[in-house]
Amino acid sequence: MNAYIAGLIVPLVILLFRNSNNRKRRGLPADVGGEPGFTVRNHRVTSPLTSLWEDVTTLAELFELTCRKNHDRLLLGTRELISREMESSSDGRKFEKLHLGEYQWVTYGKVFESVCSFASGLVKIGHVREERVAIYADTREEWFIALQACFRRNVTVVTIYASLGEEALCHSLNETEVTTVICGRKELKSLVNIAGQLDSVKRVICVDDDVPSDAASAQHGWTITSFSDVERLGRENPVEADLPLSADVAVIMYTSGSTGLPKGVMMTHGNILATVSAVVKIVPELGTKDVYLAYLPMAHILELIAENLFAAVGGCIGYGTPLTLTDTSNKVKKGTKGDATALMPTVLVAVPAILDRVRDGVFKKVNAKGGLSKALFDLAYARRMQAINGSWFGAWGLEKALWNLLVFKKVQAILGGRIRFILCGGAPLSGDSQRFINICLGAPIGQAYGLTETCAGGTFSDFDDTSVGRVGPPKPSTYVKLIDWPEGGYSTTDSPMPRGEIVIGGPSVTLGYFKNEEKTRESYKVDERGMRWFYTGDVGRFHADGCLEIIDRKKDIVKLQHGEYVSLGKVEAVLLGSPFVDNIMLHADSFQSYCVGLVAVSHPALDEWASKQGIAYSDLSELCSKEETVKEVHASLVKEAKKGRLEKFEIPAKLKLLSDPWTPETGLVTAALKIKRDIIRKTFQEELSKLYAK
Ligand SMILES: *[C@@H]1O[C@H](CO)[C@@H](O)[C@H](O)[C@H]1NC(C)=O
Ligand SMILES: *[C@@H]1O[C@H](CO)[C@@H](O)[C@H](O)[C@H]1NC(C)=O
Ligand SMILES: *[C@@H]1O[C@H](CO)[C@@H](O)[C@H](O)[C@H]1NC(C)=O
Repeated sequence: MNAYIAGLIVPLVILLFRNSNNRKRRGLPADVGGEPGFTVRNHRVTSPLTSLWEDVTTLAELFELTCRKNHDRLLLGTRELISREMESSSDGRKFEKLHLGEYQWVTYGKVFESVCSFASGLVKIGHVREERVAIYADTREEWFIALQACFRRNVTVVTIYASLGEEALCHSLNETEVTTVICGRKELKSLVNIAGQLDSVKRVICVDDDVPSDAASAQHGWTITSFSDVERLGRENPVEADLPLSADVAVIMYTSGSTGLPKGVMMTHGNILATVSAVVKIVPELGTKDVYLAYLPMAHILELIAENLFAAVGGCIGYGTPLTLTDTSNKVKKGTKGDATALMPTVLVAVPAILDRVRDGVFKKVNAKGGLSKALFDLAYARRMQAINGSWFGAWGLEKALWNLLVFKKVQAILGGRIRFILCGGAPLSGDSQRFINICLGAPIGQAYGLTETCAGGTFSDFDDTSVGRVGPPKPSTYVKLIDWPEGGYSTTDSPMPRGEIVIGGPSVTLGYFKNEEKTRESYKVDERGMRWFYTGDVGRFHADGCLEIIDRKKDIVKLQHGEYVSLGKVEAVLLGSPFVDNIMLHADSFQSYCVGLVAVSHPALDEWASKQGIAYSDLSELCSKEETVKEVHASLVKEAKKGRLEKFEIPAKLKLLSDPWTPETGLVTAALKIKRDIIRKTFQEELSKLYAK
């Protein structure tokens, strides 16, 4: 009898214990070389993973293997364009709307044939393998095929954002001496604009068949061939593959830098393969049943990893665009389907800004409906929130099924109704949005932290970890080390958690910046055991279970929610030009889309303005709190910003005016009158959070 009860109780106690504490160790301490620090590895591996597939060391081998294994399965899908229509809105503006049909699929076997043909076609049109190819186009089927084709010829691919400015485009193509550019009709226009400055480009391959006639003229110094012609030429003149080695550079990825011109990050086949392997190991049961909706720019490391990943596991990749994602997206013709409902994907990769948009859209709709359906939604949301906050086990079960059926099914339908996992990266995701996804989509969300320089290697949260604000343990392909940063006041001996600058090591860490040894030496180091480390400049702390939380940034450069970088010092220097500003601190928060400013006002200038306006006030702090004063100072900052050619997102959207000057005695500035950012931030914490309150 006792044994019987014990048999019942022990598992129950274990269940409750796990339930309430969620104490699973996700990251474990690791013994590594290099600079001393606090290092953690993923609990699934004892040393960093380089490849999950036996005898596969390059992406070219991986792709050939998966095409052989999944020969008759569907790989790439693109929607048929039924029509383009112009619709006018009520105020007379015209918008292009697309009527898109069903997905048209191509099998692994057929894609492999296209890849081989395109690879041969490159040779036929005169591209030799030592030269580089640039792909400068929107995410689409041809992008993927061209990429794999270059890999088979050991040709390095230079990736460039389709939205990049002409100066940056010219710089990237010049620096890498690209001879063949693969682009769309739209991108071809930018190319023509800078044709005079491009000495190295000899060939352009246009992925759209209708090449504009002015682009083809010989005066630009290049020949134009359509994508399908290159494929045909290759089919008629096949050549053998010329496979790369693991250490050969697969991609030079130009990232929109925080300052100045973009930098090209050199990634080897081994780097990308390591990250792909790591993600396959973490995300549960990735495989042939998975359908992936591809719509992020391929020139972004997340998307490059994701597409190679889904191809590797035998999944399907369906292409879409951010403007046609859902039934109500801007470019979707009324009454027709968006990409998500047409494809019904199982996995989605998103940046936080997109998830925020989905969340706001749903809440707006619910509020507009009001009444009983809002009450039901609120109740369901609150119940699920309690369950998820409380425990992992509570996250599943009968009640969840009930609420899903009654309330959340409609929300899930927006993304096709089959999402089982969301991978989020690129910037930090707010707790609110994470909970929204957990609750309304019923899907776990994996938050990733990584950089282009580490080939997206970094950390990745486990699917069963429902805590917010953390980015998980190191990926199986990386070590994550914290090192002391005394100037910032962070140390690995801090209690209750070790803190410090985040340094990432392992096979995902890239070779460095192309033709920029100085910058490479600044941020990359190889230790005595031969391991490469990248110094991120981000500051983090490790929780007891081995999960990382990002808490600060070493440099004064902050990435806003939509991915724009704000260089605080640069902007402050410009805004100091305003006569009303005695001193200013710009504050940017990665969870927000705008920055705010604290201004120590110039007493005389403000005084003069007030008396001219006939504004009466008893003391300066009263004047500072008046709405009209804030408005006037803001207008003056905007004027300076325009003079200094600042971007709109760099201008503080809201201000707090402070009447007391910042002097070395107050501790807010150094003896040299440089602002002490961290101290000011702490001192005016309350004011700052008020500026962000809606
Ligand atoms: C691949 O190409 C690079 C650059 O042209 C070259 O250095 C390398 O040796 C090539 N790899 C192989 C296996 O031929
Ligand atoms: C690219 O190279 C050409 C020729 O060498 C030069 O005229 C042009 O200014 C360069 N452009 C950039 C952005 O470096
Ligand atoms: C659940 O957690 C979220 C995020 O940490 C928090 O905002 C919310 O207030 C919590 N709700 C409940 C019911 O505990």
